[in-house]
Amino acid sequence: MTTPRNIIVAPSILAGDFGNFARDAQRVEQGGGDWLHCDVMDGHYVPNITFGPDTIAAFRKATKLPLDVHLMIERPDQYAERFMDAGADHLIVHLEAAHDVAKTLAQIRVRGKSAGLAINPATPAEKVLPFLGQIDELLLMTVHPGFGGQAFLPEILPKIRALRSAAAGDLPIIVDGGINPETGRQCVEAGANVLVAGNSLFRHKALNLTEAIAELRGHATNQD
Ligand code: DX5
Ligand code: ZN
Repeated sequence: MTTPRNIIVAPSILAGDFGNFARDAQRVEQGGGDWLHCDVMDGHYVPNITFGPDTIAAFRKATKLPLDVHLMIERPDQYAERFMDAGADHLIVHLEAAHDVAKTLAQIRVRGKSAGLAINPATPAEKVLPFLGQIDELLLMTVHPGFGGQAFLPEILPKIRALRSAAAGDLPIIVDGGINPETGRQCVEAGANVLVAGNSLFRHKALNLTEAIAELRGHATNQD
């Protein structure tokens, strides 16, 4: 099983300070984060509401990092253009949302952006197979979407393994939810290479963000 060797750490701004988003986006950049993971929630697809395109535009001004925009919204097809206009580099849409998935993925790729597909914990790996040739990244939820700070679901590990072997070796596989040095290491061992983490980084008891990012990356990289 091949996994892209480079481990990408994508801190989730959902765990940042909503009153100081620009500051925290810069902290992620200065702290060695690779992508800024931005969780968009509409109160329909998930029972929570976060922010929209104007906030993505503010992140675009605050950091040079790739904006990894995770759309937990019912109609990603209706908003994709606005998020890409606002500065999203990666746009990740949910298979389970109410849209024509292939069409939305094409809509993202035609703009030269990275088209990502996300699936919830309950969605079986097989559902992703028809889309593997149409995506640039695959996000496997390791918690139920909607909130940060939840416990990692270890039952997703076999799904990571299955999709790692089904997908092209260089397809980035993202894990998202409850990721810390230990769960991150398990996910990398199973074939993931992009670690989204919110609370384990922003709420780390002992380490500042820079140290917490380094610890997460270090644990995940040293598979021995
Ligand atoms: C949950 C979001 C995750 C979440 C991760 O719906 O998609 O990105 O912010 O937060 P932690 O790492 O705290 O579980
Ligand atoms: Zn997310």
